[in-house]
Amino acid sequence: MPNRKSRPQKRRRRSIIAFEMIRLDRTATEPLHEQLYRQIRDELKSGRFSDASSRLPSSRDLATDRGISRSTVRLALSKLHAEGYLRSKAGSGTFVANLLPETFLTADRPKAYQPIERPIRISDRVRAIPDARVGNQFDLGATGAGAGVSLVASIPAVDEFPIAVWERLRAQALAKKGVNLLRYSSNRGDIDLRKAIAAYLCDFRAAHCHPDQIVIVAGMQQAMLISAMAVLNPGEVAWIEDPCYQQTRRVLSLAGVKIIPKPIDNQGIVIARSPKEPLPRMIYVTPSHQFPLGVTMTFQRRTALLDFARAHDAFIFEDDYDAEFRFTGPPLPALQGIDNASRVIYAGTVSKILCPGLRLGYIVAPEPLIDSFVKIRSAMDQHSSPIDQATLARFITEGFFLSHIKRMRKIYAERRDFFIKQFNELLGDRFTLQVPEAGLNIVAWLKREEDFPMIKRITFDIGVRPSALSFFCIQAKLKPALVFGFAAWTPTQIRESLVKLASALRSRGNDLNHGRQSR
Ligand SMILES: Cc1ncc(COP(=O)(O)O)c(C=O)c1O
Repeated sequence: MPNRKSRPQKRRRRSIIAFEMIRLDRTATEPLHEQLYRQIRDELKSGRFSDASSRLPSSRDLATDRGISRSTVRLALSKLHAEGYLRSKAGSGTFVANLLPETFLTADRPKAYQPIERPIRISDRVRAIPDARVGNQFDLGATGAGAGVSLVASIPAVDEFPIAVWERLRAQALAKKGVNLLRYSSNRGDIDLRKAIAAYLCDFRAAHCHPDQIVIVAGMQQAMLISAMAVLNPGEVAWIEDPCYQQTRRVLSLAGVKIIPKPIDNQGIVIARSPKEPLPRMIYVTPSHQFPLGVTMTFQRRTALLDFARAHDAFIFEDDYDAEFRFTGPPLPALQGIDNASRVIYAGTVSKILCPGLRLGYIVAPEPLIDSFVKIRSAMDQHSSPIDQATLARFITEGFFLSHIKRMRKIYAERRDFFIKQFNELLGDRFTLQVPEAGLNIVAWLKREEDFPMIKRITFDIGVRPSALSFFCIQAKLKPALVFGFAAWTPTQIRESLVKLASALRSRGNDLNHGRQSR
């Protein structure tokens, strides 16, 4: 059968002037030139004109024929020209192109689609990622937080993000740097952004770094993946906190790393190990505010950890994801700032400070690792959006970043106090709150362990979605608790959710308990 696209159908022999089928609606919101463009294009795609009669009438004739202005006709024809539907012949006029652009754009559908019966082979790498979700459960991302007041942990108040300021700075960045922001760009990241972040970290996190140590990444997860790939061979050991941020396990599993969970005590990660336990090449920690328990790593534990890493040739991965939101006392300096042996890979993210949708974060690389990190990024996905990076650089240097942090810290402090007060009033009979010094989450320990399945079911049914603490545990056997987020919702919304939870627990909880007793 002849290929319809490579050999277009014979077009009917008539002049293209026979565009009497064009119907222009002057009351429509679609501009007249767009209507004209669309209808001529569709007529050309129908392929009813022979090459011999494919000359277009002049714009004047077409305008007179349809009762519209010549500039409207010219606008429509120039778009058809630009897209390749028309060609000009010097001195002879405008003609329909021999081959319409669709010829080069639309693939032929294969005739018969044969579904493969055998199960598809999936790599061991995918199987190694600890994640029980399937299908569209992934559509809500790692947090599972949909719209609504769910009290899901770790969600910042994105509705407070200054979108208008961001849009203005983005327009300014584009106006200044123009097409340079549209090209492939540096694998390390925008130099203005690296300078701004280095200055911020030195001033506020007591870090010790210069812009060449900064590598811009697509958030904390990518920082972890790049670091793990740079310092660990598949099968080598990383220690992680237990309980731990669930994405850390997933990322390190993807990197083929052997994970050894380490417990948390009231000083932070426990370093002591049995003689049989293999030594780590990397140790993942959240010293500012342990996720999810909220412990701030003490100064003694920080120095002990640095000594251990130095003695055993290991790197520490410092995930400083929400250090900015502290509510009691000044923060301890970042581990990176007290490391004098290039053992700390420090990483930050804008996911909590600004919003997770930007997918921007940064690594402060120990000098000997910089090239390896950049090499991996270049092989992975090259770089983050230059437009977003340039906008963020302006956002920081023009003072909006700091002012946003200060404003959000105040909002979060109010919401946190409100959450604690309301929670204790409404649910204090069932839970004991463990209030951390920092962060966007609070752990609520159950007073009666046996209530856990009932409480879990009720929270799920009413759409309140704290995570079970056990979700973050690997080997740790902790008492049952729920991890609540409070940051993304107004006091009124927080109260509504807590009232709903308290009354559901009162009515259904009593029914369920009663049913259990009478069985
Ligand atoms: C411990 C921890 N690190 C990092 C992040 C954010 O990571 P990302 O920058 O990939 O959004 C979170 C988000 O909840 C977190 O809890």
